[in-house]
Amino acid sequence: MAVAMFQLKNVSYLYNEGQPSEHAALDNINLSINRGEFVAVIGHNGSGKSTLAKHLNALLIPTRGTVLVKGIDTKDPQHLWTIRRTAGMVFQNPDNQMVATAVEEDVAFGPENLGVPAEEIRRRVKTALQTVDMWEYRKSAPHLLSGGQKQRVAIAGVLAMQPEALVLDEPTAMLDPSGRQEVMDTVVRLNRDQGITVIHITHFMAEAVLAGRVVVMNEGGIVLDGTPEEVFSHLDELKASGLDVPQVTELAQRLSKHEIVLPSGILTVERMVAEICRLKSKM
Ligand SMILES: Nc1ncnc2c1ncn2[C@@H]1O[C@H](COP(=O)(O)OP(=O)(O)O)[C@@H](O)[C@H]1O
Ligand SMILES: [Mg+2]
Repeated sequence: MAVAMFQLKNVSYLYNEGQPSEHAALDNINLSINRGEFVAVIGHNGSGKSTLAKHLNALLIPTRGTVLVKGIDTKDPQHLWTIRRTAGMVFQNPDNQMVATAVEEDVAFGPENLGVPAEEIRRRVKTALQTVDMWEYRKSAPHLLSGGQKQRVAIAGVLAMQPEALVLDEPTAMLDPSGRQEVMDTVVRLNRDQGITVIHITHFMAEAVLAGRVVVMNEGGIVLDGTPEEVFSHLDELKASGLDVPQVTELAQRLSKHEIVLPSGILTVERMVAEICRLKSKM
């Protein structure tokens, strides 16, 4: 059997262990993510999403339980760099991720730190910037870019280290709708065309439905895990976890109470329209 990209076994994490302020941010998490998956993680503020993300590249080590990255235990300090290079992280605030005065230098920063030869760095920077469609901005100053462009450069910076997985922690939270669209188009493409494993943390339901799998967190635990259709058919559990559900999903549920029965798991306006037209043609 193939080794999972990420495997969490009975993982708990306590902040400030042993102090009066001790707080369990993860509570006995079990989760396995395979190579090539696109997983969205949703959950209200404080549910443990960022803490989970930081366990995927050994920024945090579990208080109890085990995290394996490609079968390697993140507790093993010998393999720290293998783990860090496997899972590239992108965070919420693009400004905190920019270090250089020009886009191309910024993207080169990661591979430079890995000791990659100069010629190879140039090749990687070009490929990464072309992949996120920012090559023409290579000489630009990062602070002059839009939020969406900055996040795409941040993604390019991670790609230049040739990771097998991308862990994005609310990368669209600070962006306007067009910036969000740019970032999501990029992430979807990287997963689909390059087979990069994606863990995308978001509070936008419209982004979660793009994933192949949705994991819902509440109070440090996983409360739902399945395809978007499966997860978004559990409206009551989602609401109990403090989450919004897609409007059309809610509408379908309400219509069902009035004997207009639509399939569960309708996630998009297009699908809703198609299902209503189908019903109407049967009348
Ligand atoms: N550095 C920290 N020290 C103490 N508690 C923290 C720290 N970071 C997060 N927490 C707490 O852990 C819980 C989970 O936080 P987090 O993983 O950031 O959740 P999310 O990303 O879902 O908003 C929250 O209750 C939060 O207050
Ligand atoms: Mg967070």
